[in-house]
Amino acid sequence: MKRMIKRALSKSIGRMFWSVLFVFALTPGLSQAAAPQRRPQRVRSQKPKVPPKPKVDYTKFSHTTHIVTQKLVCSSCHKVPSKNYKEFRKGDAAFPDVTDFPEHSSCLSCHKEQFFARERPAPSICSNCHIAVTPKDTARWLFPSLGDVPDPKLKRREFVSEFGVGFPHDKHIDVVGLNSTSPSPFGRGLGEGLSTRKPSPPSPLATEEERDGASFANALFQEKKPAPPKSCPVCHETYQPQGNSSEEYVTKPPKGIGDAFWLKKGTFKTIPNSHTICFTCHSADSGIAPEPKNCEMCHKFVPPMQLKVDFDPRLATPMGADKFMLARWGRRISAGAFRHEAGEHPDLSCLNCHKVDSAAFSTIDPKTVKVPVRSCGGPEGCHITATVDDGGALNFEIDSRKKDPNFACTKCHLTFGKEAMPENHPQAIPKPKPKKTT
Ligand code: HEC
Ligand code: HEC
Ligand code: HEC
Ligand code: HEC
Ligand code: HEC
Ligand code: HEC
Ligand code: HEC
Ligand code: HEC
Repeated sequence: MKRMIKRALSKSIGRMFWSVLFVFALTPGLSQAAAPQRRPQRVRSQKPKVPPKPKVDYTKFSHTTHIVTQKLVCSSCHKVPSKNYKEFRKGDAAFPDVTDFPEHSSCLSCHKEQFFARERPAPSICSNCHIAVTPKDTARWLFPSLGDVPDPKLKRREFVSEFGVGFPHDKHIDVVGLNSTSPSPFGRGLGEGLSTRKPSPPSPLATEEERDGASFANALFQEKKPAPPKSCPVCHETYQPQGNSSEEYVTKPPKGIGDAFWLKKGTFKTIPNSHTICFTCHSADSGIAPEPKNCEMCHKFVPPMQLKVDFDPRLATPMGADKFMLARWGRRISAGAFRHEAGEHPDLSCLNCHKVDSAAFSTIDPKTVKVPVRSCGGPEGCHITATVDDGGALNFEIDSRKKDPNFACTKCHLTFGKEAMPENHPQAIPKPKPKKTT
């Protein structure tokens, strides 16, 4: 009896909680949804209910369902700028960005049932955007486009993106320059470097004379056409969380490591983690397409790909790889042991190894992003020489593999080196010049 009363009581308390919550939170959304809408999908919610539905997991929002099956456009849910865009980047650093999840109104036309489901502690659909929904705590996660916000007040959620970012490098090499006074383009420094951009820079499509304006001096562009490698650090910097520490490794290697592989700092390059750089040029009033609201122009819906990577998570953890390193390492499809900071690598043009100036290079198609093995030869035959005696690492490893089929190639690889050798490796070795016959 006691239990029954308790249950009834907790039920009605629960109901009270939700009705109070919904009066506050959902009514504006509801009234919007109830108002006559141009949205064609309203019709869908009026279809007759079929009682025995297969169980749907409403904690896991999928774009496939909504973009592919329901054919919804990005802007039917994602609004830019978000109401709260000034809360995350302060003062000059704030720019009209998408900084929040879609609002209730973009879901309610189809999901009234799920929003009002009697589920504890909250309807499961809420968790796609909210951390918890209790009367005291209605906080949402940090919207993931705020990757560059340091020490965010809101928690970041772990997730696997359903999208790839399509950035046409070839179309940007001439238009993105490096502001010489710009500090680190990674992390906090980025906002500082770019906060000098107001008023917005003239179109890079402007004529030479138009470009000579005073505001231009402070802009991202340079008057002189920048040498390609100079434009790259605007978006990619060597990742060095340890700063200038003299330590060679990310964490101390075991004693007697010798030449065996252990993660060294300066291995990885960063990639942009927000809209900060893109939206300096691609803004609603710059006239440079795509505008921020055209999410689909940059975010390409790509089905998850099974990449063959030169990476072993069991090695990475004891070596002290942080989240960022793991993310980059887990995508290494050419050479898992390659270090950007090592030897002469920093003196070489990025274009020696990355053919981003070619229209064929596509950031959403991994096979085009591969670094050709031939580039390890460098301009002076660094790791690839005509003969083994000239000291080429590739020559040495190919030779060792010929002698011992179990030989593991470790100079450039972590896991690939144990596999069969691809044909392009021996082909990369320059043919000895035909001897002159007299
Ligand atoms: C039906 C509403 C809806 C539509 C339409 C929609 N989104 Fe989303 N989107 C969401 C919700 C809700 C989230 C947060 C939940 C999540 O992360 O899965 C989200 C998250 C995202 C994220 C971060 C998570 C991830 O997978 O990377 C990106 C990027 C994104 N949307 C881009 C797009 C683009 C591009 C389009 C159009 C091609 C689009 N969205 C269309 C509702 C929508
Ligand atoms: C045009 C109607 C429509 C709109 C608008 C819509 N959905 Fe859906 N959603 C569906 C349909 C249809 C399904 C398939 C399962 C079902 O019938 O409930 C679905 C499924 C889901 C699921 C289950 C997993 C999945 O994605 O397949 C979640 C979670 C979800 N929607 C969340 C949302 C959220 C959050 C919004 C608003 C940002 C939203 N939906 C807007 C029609 C819609
Ligand atoms: C698609 C993402 C999304 C889903 C799903 C969602 N919310 Fe929200 N919710 C928001 C956003 C965005 C706001 C802020 C709206 C605004 O500022 O006008 C918000 C605001 C609120 C608020 C007002 C408090 C505040 O922080 O401003 C409450 C309460 C709330 N939601 C409850 C819920 C409940 C309960 C559910 C599940 C039934 C739910 N929400 C599902 C995105 C979502
Ligand atoms: C305006 C910013 C910007 C500039 C300038 C830029 N990139 Fe990128 N780069 C990107 C973005 C965005 C991606 C895609 C990242 C992703 O997949 O999320 C990318 C991806 C790459 C990748 C592929 C990384 C991988 O493993 O998938 C390489 C290599 C690369 N860039 C090299 C270069 C080089 C070399 C230059 C100079 C010629 C350059 N980038 C200039 C923004 C930029
Ligand atoms: C000597 C050849 C070489 C040079 C020079 C070089 N890179 Fe790389 N880079 C690589 C290799 C190899 C990888 C690993 C690719 C893979 O395994 O997918 C890589 C990876 C990257 C990535 C992806 C993140 C990562 O570290 O895995 C970016 C971004 C990048 N390089 C940018 C640059 C930029 C910008 C420059 C010039 C400042 C540059 N690289 C110079 C060989 C080079
Ligand atoms: C310095 C200004 C500038 C910056 C910064 C910039 N863009 Fe662009 N972007 C341009 C210009 C100019 C064009 C037009 C180029 C053309 O059509 O040849 C363009 C074109 C594009 C296009 C359309 C290409 C097409 O096929 O129509 C995409 C997509 C794009 N940019 C994405 C990005 C992304 C993603 C970033 C950030 C990583 C970015 N841009 C940063 C100036 C910029
Ligand atoms: C001009 C190109 C461009 C446009 C337009 C654009 N984005 Fe982005 N977006 C980027 C780049 C570049 C990144 C950073 C690279 C990354 O996170 O992989 C990014 C990151 C994000 C992230 C974080 C994704 C992740 O995997 O961490 C979300 C979420 C996002 N954008 C949502 C949107 C939404 C929603 C829209 C439309 C309102 C939009 N973006 C419009 C270029 C763009
Ligand atoms: C000087 C650096 C270097 C050395 C030494 C080297 N590789 Fe590679 N390897 C690369 C690069 C760069 C790639 C990516 C380019 C490609 O696949 O063509 C690659 C790709 C591979 C792949 C992946 C091919 C695929 O299908 O994706 C395998 C497997 C591989 N190497 C095995 C070996 C073996 C076995 C050896 C020793 C005999 C070796 N490598 C020595 C640089 C090297």
